[in-house]
Amino acid sequence: MAADHPNTPLLIMAVFIPLLHQFSSETAAATTFTRSRAAYYPNSSENGTAAGACGYGSYGSTINGGDVSAASDLYRSGVGCGACYQVRCVNSNYCSDNGVTIVITDSGASGGTDFILSQHAFARMGQTTDAGKSLLDLGFVDIDYRRVVCNYPNKNITVKIDESSNYPNYLAFVIEYQQGTQDIIAVQLCETVSLTCKLLDRSHGAVWAVVSPPSGPLSVRMLLGGDGDGEESWVVPANNIPASWSAGASYDTGIQLN
Ligand SMILES: *[C@@H]1O[C@H](CO)[C@@H](O)[C@H](O)[C@H]1NC(C)=O
Ligand SMILES: *[C@@H]1O[C@H](CO)[C@@H](O)[C@H](O)[C@H]1NC(C)=O
Ligand SMILES: *[C@@H]1O[C@H](CO)[C@@H](O)[C@H](O)[C@H]1NC(C)=O
Repeated sequence: MAADHPNTPLLIMAVFIPLLHQFSSETAAATTFTRSRAAYYPNSSENGTAAGACGYGSYGSTINGGDVSAASDLYRSGVGCGACYQVRCVNSNYCSDNGVTIVITDSGASGGTDFILSQHAFARMGQTTDAGKSLLDLGFVDIDYRRVVCNYPNKNITVKIDESSNYPNYLAFVIEYQQGTQDIIAVQLCETVSLTCKLLDRSHGAVWAVVSPPSGPLSVRMLLGGDGDGEESWVVPANNIPASWSAGASYDTGIQLN
Protein backbone atom coordinates (compact mmCIF):
# COMPACT_ATOMS: atom_id res chain seq x y z
CA MET A 1 0.00 0.00 0.00
CA ALA A 2 0.96 3.60 -0.34
CA ALA A 3 3.32 4.92 2.27
CA ASP A 4 3.17 8.51 3.39
CA HIS A 5 5.99 10.35 1.68
CA PRO A 6 6.49 13.68 3.38
CA ASN A 7 8.88 14.64 0.61
CA THR A 8 6.39 14.14 -2.20
CA PRO A 9 6.77 17.32 -4.20
CA LEU A 10 3.95 19.78 -4.20
CA LEU A 11 3.73 21.13 -7.68
CA ILE A 12 2.28 24.43 -8.67
CA MET A 13 -0.09 23.50 -11.42
CA ALA A 14 -0.70 26.69 -13.32
CA VAL A 15 1.91 25.89 -15.96
CA PHE A 16 0.37 22.50 -16.66
CA ILE A 17 -3.16 23.55 -17.43
CA PRO A 18 -3.73 22.81 -21.09
CA LEU A 19 -6.66 23.99 -23.12
CA LEU A 20 -9.62 21.68 -23.32
CA HIS A 21 -9.57 21.44 -27.07
CA GLN A 22 -6.15 19.80 -26.90
CA PHE A 23 -7.75 16.72 -25.37
CA SER A 24 -9.09 15.47 -28.65
CA SER A 25 -6.36 12.89 -28.43
CA GLU A 26 -8.11 10.31 -30.54
CA THR A 27 -5.28 8.68 -32.36
CA ALA A 28 -5.98 5.98 -34.89
CA ALA A 29 -5.72 2.42 -33.67
CA ALA A 30 -2.37 0.74 -34.13
CA THR A 31 -2.44 -0.49 -37.68
CA THR A 32 -0.38 -3.62 -37.30
CA PHE A 33 -1.53 -6.76 -35.54
CA THR A 34 0.69 -8.89 -33.34
CA ARG A 35 0.41 -12.69 -33.36
CA SER A 36 -0.14 -14.40 -30.00
CA ARG A 37 -2.42 -16.82 -28.19
CA ALA A 38 -5.47 -16.45 -26.00
CA ALA A 39 -7.24 -18.59 -23.42
CA TYR A 40 -10.36 -17.89 -21.33
CA TYR A 41 -11.42 -17.82 -17.70
CA PRO A 42 -13.61 -20.58 -16.34
CA ASN A 43 -17.01 -19.39 -15.03
CA SER A 44 -17.16 -16.28 -17.14
CA SER A 45 -19.92 -16.95 -19.66
CA GLU A 46 -21.44 -13.50 -19.11
CA ASN A 47 -18.87 -11.39 -17.32
CA GLY A 48 -15.22 -11.40 -16.32
CA THR A 49 -13.93 -11.60 -12.78
CA ALA A 50 -14.76 -8.98 -10.15
CA ALA A 51 -11.51 -9.90 -8.37
CA GLY A 52 -9.27 -8.72 -11.23
CA ALA A 53 -5.80 -7.43 -10.37
CA CYS A 54 -6.62 -3.97 -11.71
CA GLY A 55 -8.79 -3.43 -8.63
CA TYR A 56 -11.85 -2.34 -10.59
CA GLY A 57 -14.22 -4.66 -8.69
CA SER A 58 -17.51 -5.39 -10.41
CA TYR A 59 -16.82 -2.69 -13.02
CA GLY A 60 -13.90 -4.86 -14.18
CA SER A 61 -16.23 -7.78 -14.61
CA THR A 62 -19.12 -6.11 -16.44
CA ILE A 63 -17.61 -3.19 -18.38
CA ASN A 64 -17.89 -3.40 -22.19
CA GLY A 65 -20.69 -5.93 -21.91
CA GLY A 66 -18.42 -8.39 -20.10
CA ASP A 67 -15.90 -8.43 -22.96
CA VAL A 68 -12.88 -8.10 -20.69
CA SER A 69 -9.55 -9.84 -20.33
CA ALA A 70 -6.52 -10.50 -18.19
CA ALA A 71 -3.22 -9.59 -19.80
CA SER A 72 0.26 -10.94 -19.09
CA ASP A 73 3.03 -8.67 -20.48
CA LEU A 74 0.50 -6.06 -21.60
CA TYR A 75 -0.62 -5.64 -17.97
CA ARG A 76 2.59 -3.59 -17.49
CA SER A 77 2.42 -3.48 -13.67
CA GLY A 78 -1.05 -1.97 -13.87
CA VAL A 79 -0.36 0.73 -16.48
CA GLY A 80 -2.17 -1.50 -18.99
CA CYS A 81 -5.38 -1.55 -16.95
CA GLY A 82 -8.26 -0.04 -18.90
CA ALA A 83 -6.54 -0.36 -22.29
CA CYS A 84 -8.60 -1.76 -25.17
CA TYR A 85 -7.46 -4.32 -27.71
CA GLN A 86 -9.01 -5.82 -30.78
CA VAL A 87 -8.44 -9.57 -30.54
CA ARG A 88 -9.30 -11.88 -33.41
CA CYS A 89 -8.58 -15.55 -33.73
CA VAL A 90 -7.07 -16.79 -36.97
CA ASN A 91 -8.79 -20.13 -37.70
CA SER A 92 -10.78 -19.31 -40.82
CA ASN A 93 -13.26 -22.11 -40.15
CA TYR A 94 -14.52 -20.49 -36.96
CA CYS A 95 -13.22 -16.95 -36.60
CA SER A 96 -14.78 -13.70 -37.71
CA ASP A 97 -12.64 -11.05 -39.40
CA ASN A 98 -13.11 -8.44 -36.68
CA GLY A 99 -13.00 -10.62 -33.57
CA VAL A 100 -13.82 -8.77 -30.36
CA THR A 101 -12.73 -5.60 -28.58
CA ILE A 102 -11.79 -6.22 -24.96
CA VAL A 103 -10.79 -4.08 -21.96
CA ILE A 104 -7.90 -5.15 -19.71
CA THR A 105 -9.14 -5.55 -16.13
CA ASP A 106 -6.87 -8.26 -14.72
CA SER A 107 -3.38 -9.74 -14.84
CA GLY A 108 -2.67 -13.32 -15.78
CA ALA A 109 -1.03 -15.76 -18.14
CA SER A 110 -1.87 -19.28 -19.14
CA GLY A 111 0.26 -21.42 -21.44
CA GLY A 112 2.15 -18.62 -23.18
CA THR A 113 -0.88 -16.44 -23.86
CA ASP A 114 -1.02 -12.66 -23.90
CA PHE A 115 -4.73 -12.67 -23.02
CA ILE A 116 -7.13 -14.63 -20.85
CA LEU A 117 -10.50 -13.46 -22.12
CA SER A 118 -13.85 -13.79 -20.45
CA GLN A 119 -15.69 -16.73 -22.03
CA HIS A 120 -18.18 -14.20 -23.34
CA ALA A 121 -15.46 -12.36 -25.24
CA PHE A 122 -13.73 -15.57 -26.35
CA ALA A 123 -16.92 -16.95 -27.90
CA ARG A 124 -17.56 -13.64 -29.64
CA MET A 125 -14.50 -14.20 -31.81
CA GLY A 126 -16.55 -16.87 -33.60
CA GLN A 127 -18.40 -16.22 -36.85
CA THR A 128 -21.58 -17.61 -35.26
CA THR A 129 -22.77 -18.80 -31.85
CA ASP A 130 -21.94 -22.37 -32.85
CA ALA A 131 -18.49 -21.33 -34.05
CA GLY A 132 -18.01 -19.60 -30.69
CA LYS A 133 -18.85 -22.86 -28.91
CA SER A 134 -16.32 -24.68 -31.06
CA LEU A 135 -13.69 -22.11 -30.09
CA LEU A 136 -14.49 -22.67 -26.41
CA ASP A 137 -13.97 -26.40 -26.96
CA LEU A 138 -10.48 -25.66 -28.28
CA GLY A 139 -9.58 -23.81 -25.08
CA PHE A 140 -6.54 -22.01 -26.51
CA VAL A 141 -6.48 -20.29 -29.88
CA ASP A 142 -3.96 -18.42 -32.01
CA ILE A 143 -4.89 -14.76 -32.28
CA ASP A 144 -3.85 -11.42 -33.74
CA TYR A 145 -4.25 -8.35 -31.57
CA ARG A 146 -3.76 -4.59 -31.70
CA ARG A 147 -4.45 -1.66 -29.39
CA VAL A 148 -7.62 0.22 -30.29
CA VAL A 149 -9.58 3.20 -29.01
CA CYS A 150 -11.70 2.66 -25.89
CA ASN A 151 -15.07 4.19 -26.59
CA TYR A 152 -17.80 4.82 -24.00
CA PRO A 153 -20.05 7.24 -25.84
CA ASN A 154 -22.53 7.79 -23.01
CA LYS A 155 -20.02 7.92 -20.18
CA ASN A 156 -17.72 10.56 -18.76
CA ILE A 157 -14.47 9.53 -17.11
CA THR A 158 -15.49 8.65 -13.55
CA VAL A 159 -13.56 8.49 -10.30
CA LYS A 160 -14.76 5.57 -8.19
CA ILE A 161 -13.64 5.80 -4.56
CA ASP A 162 -12.35 2.43 -3.42
CA GLU A 163 -14.13 0.72 -0.53
CA SER A 164 -10.78 0.55 1.28
CA SER A 165 -10.80 4.34 1.64
CA ASN A 166 -11.26 5.82 5.09
CA TYR A 167 -12.44 9.43 5.12
CA PRO A 168 -10.53 11.67 5.76
CA ASN A 169 -7.30 9.71 6.36
CA TYR A 170 -6.86 7.48 3.35
CA LEU A 171 -8.14 7.93 -0.18
CA ALA A 172 -7.88 5.26 -2.87
CA PHE A 173 -9.73 5.28 -6.19
CA VAL A 174 -9.85 3.88 -9.69
CA ILE A 175 -10.57 5.81 -12.86
CA GLU A 176 -13.42 4.28 -14.82
CA TYR A 177 -14.40 4.72 -18.48
CA GLN A 178 -10.83 5.53 -19.56
CA GLN A 179 -11.19 6.58 -23.18
CA GLY A 180 -8.93 6.78 -26.20
CA THR A 181 -5.70 4.89 -26.89
CA GLN A 182 -3.46 6.46 -24.26
CA ASP A 183 -2.46 5.18 -20.83
CA ILE A 184 -2.99 7.04 -17.58
CA ILE A 185 0.67 7.23 -16.61
CA ALA A 186 0.43 9.54 -13.59
CA VAL A 187 -2.25 11.11 -11.41
CA GLN A 188 -2.17 14.23 -9.27
CA LEU A 189 -4.65 15.18 -6.60
CA CYS A 190 -5.04 18.95 -6.47
CA GLU A 191 -6.57 21.19 -3.85
CA THR A 192 -8.84 23.39 -5.89
CA VAL A 193 -8.45 26.43 -3.62
CA SER A 194 -4.66 26.61 -3.19
CA LEU A 195 -3.94 24.87 -6.52
CA THR A 196 -1.24 22.75 -4.98
CA CYS A 197 -1.05 19.19 -6.18
CA LYS A 198 0.26 15.92 -4.85
CA LEU A 199 1.55 13.20 -7.16
CA LEU A 200 -0.13 9.93 -6.17
CA ASP A 201 1.26 6.43 -5.88
CA ARG A 202 -0.15 3.63 -7.99
CA SER A 203 -1.13 1.36 -5.11
CA HIS A 204 -1.76 -1.66 -7.37
CA GLY A 205 -3.42 -2.24 -10.72
CA ALA A 206 -5.52 0.80 -11.62
CA VAL A 207 -5.81 1.91 -7.98
CA TRP A 208 -4.30 5.29 -7.02
CA ALA A 209 -3.91 5.99 -3.33
CA VAL A 210 -2.79 8.65 -0.90
CA VAL A 211 -2.39 8.72 2.87
CA SER A 212 -3.52 12.01 4.43
CA PRO A 213 -5.17 13.40 1.30
CA PRO A 214 -5.64 17.14 1.10
CA SER A 215 -8.99 18.44 2.33
CA GLY A 216 -11.47 20.54 0.42
CA PRO A 217 -12.82 19.91 -3.07
CA LEU A 218 -10.26 17.86 -4.99
CA SER A 219 -9.38 17.72 -8.65
CA VAL A 220 -8.00 14.45 -10.06
CA ARG A 221 -5.61 15.32 -12.88
CA MET A 222 -4.44 12.59 -15.23
CA LEU A 223 -1.27 12.46 -17.31
CA LEU A 224 -2.05 10.66 -20.56
CA GLY A 225 0.65 9.19 -22.74
CA GLY A 226 2.41 6.02 -23.69
CA ASP A 227 0.70 5.29 -26.98
CA GLY A 228 3.97 5.36 -28.88
CA ASP A 229 3.94 8.89 -30.33
CA GLY A 230 5.75 10.42 -27.33
CA GLU A 231 2.98 12.91 -26.63
CA GLU A 232 1.99 13.42 -23.00
CA SER A 233 -0.64 15.79 -21.71
CA TRP A 234 -2.30 16.57 -18.41
CA VAL A 235 -6.07 16.37 -18.42
CA VAL A 236 -7.93 18.60 -15.99
CA PRO A 237 -11.44 17.44 -15.08
CA ALA A 238 -14.40 19.80 -15.27
CA ASN A 239 -15.80 18.53 -11.97
CA ASN A 240 -14.16 18.10 -8.58
CA ILE A 241 -14.48 15.41 -5.96
CA PRO A 242 -16.44 17.03 -3.13
CA ALA A 243 -14.71 17.75 0.19
CA SER A 244 -16.97 15.20 1.86
CA TRP A 245 -16.14 12.27 -0.45
CA SER A 246 -17.16 8.81 0.73
CA ALA A 247 -15.88 5.28 0.21
CA GLY A 248 -17.72 3.47 -2.57
CA ALA A 249 -19.06 6.65 -4.21
CA SER A 250 -18.55 7.53 -7.89
CA TYR A 251 -17.78 11.06 -9.05
CA ASP A 252 -18.25 12.14 -12.66
CA THR A 253 -15.28 14.20 -13.90
CA GLY A 254 -17.51 15.80 -16.54
CA ILE A 255 -15.11 15.04 -19.37
CA GLN A 256 -14.77 12.60 -22.22
CA LEU A 257 -11.64 12.08 -24.26
CA ASN A 258 -13.10 11.05 -27.61
C1 LIG B 1 -17.01 -22.35 -11.19
O1 LIG B 1 -18.11 -23.18 -11.47
C2 LIG B 1 -18.03 -24.44 -10.84
C3 LIG B 1 -19.18 -25.28 -11.34
O2 LIG B 1 -20.38 -24.58 -11.36
C4 LIG B 1 -18.06 -24.24 -9.32
O3 LIG B 1 -17.95 -25.47 -8.67
C5 LIG B 1 -16.90 -23.33 -8.92
O4 LIG B 1 -16.99 -23.03 -7.55
C6 LIG B 1 -16.92 -22.05 -9.70
N1 LIG B 1 -15.73 -21.31 -9.40
C7 LIG B 1 -15.74 -19.99 -9.23
C8 LIG B 1 -14.41 -19.35 -8.96
O5 LIG B 1 -16.74 -19.30 -9.32
C1 LIG C 1 -23.13 -9.95 -15.45
O1 LIG C 1 -23.22 -8.56 -15.26
C2 LIG C 1 -24.53 -8.06 -15.39
C3 LIG C 1 -24.47 -6.56 -15.31
O2 LIG C 1 -23.93 -6.14 -14.09
C4 LIG C 1 -25.41 -8.69 -14.30
O3 LIG C 1 -26.73 -8.21 -14.44
C5 LIG C 1 -25.38 -10.19 -14.42
O4 LIG C 1 -26.07 -10.79 -13.35
C6 LIG C 1 -23.94 -10.70 -14.40
N1 LIG C 1 -23.94 -12.13 -14.68
C7 LIG C 1 -23.35 -13.02 -13.88
C8 LIG C 1 -23.43 -14.44 -14.28
O5 LIG C 1 -22.78 -12.68 -12.85
C1 LIG D 1 -20.65 14.48 -18.88
O1 LIG D 1 -20.27 15.73 -18.39
C2 LIG D 1 -20.98 16.83 -18.93
C3 LIG D 1 -20.43 18.10 -18.32
O2 LIG D 1 -19.10 18.30 -18.68
C4 LIG D 1 -22.46 16.70 -18.62
O3 LIG D 1 -23.17 17.75 -19.26
C5 LIG D 1 -22.96 15.36 -19.13
O4 LIG D 1 -24.29 15.18 -18.71
C6 LIG D 1 -22.12 14.23 -18.59
N1 LIG D 1 -22.55 13.00 -19.25
C7 LIG D 1 -22.94 11.94 -18.56
C8 LIG D 1 -23.31 10.74 -19.39
O5 LIG D 1 -22.98 11.91 -17.36
